[in-house]
Amino acid sequence: MEVWICRVEELRAGIVRTTQLGHDDDGIPITALVLRDEDGAIVAYRNLCRHLPVPLDGGTGELLSEDGAHLVCGTHGATYRLLDGYCVDGPCEGLSLQRLHVRDEAGDVYVSVRPHPG
Ligand code: FES
Repeated sequence: MEVWICRVEELRAGIVRTTQLGHDDDGIPITALVLRDEDGAIVAYRNLCRHLPVPLDGGTGELLSEDGAHLVCGTHGATYRLLDGYCVDGPCEGLSLQRLHVRDEAGDVYVSVRPHPG
């Protein structure tokens, strides 16, 4: 399943776009987070903390740290790097968010559940 998310110019630093990508094998909804990393590259992760299987924002829409440098889980504070989703601080330190496949075609950004090859 692949979903159009936005035009590439709409995805600026500090903006996180979200979209639904159906459900996983356990029936848990898959929500994609699409954003720019520290280098301006477009990345996508599943909105599911690696500590407990809950959305990072708990439904609040607040996903980034105050300085915009990390994705943060509001439940217990797990702090993830933008460029690879690696948890640098918190209860799941050393684990990484599930990366999703993101594609830019002629300025249109698409995301899918197919894991990112990298
Ligand atoms: S559920 Fe995310 S840090 Fe605990």
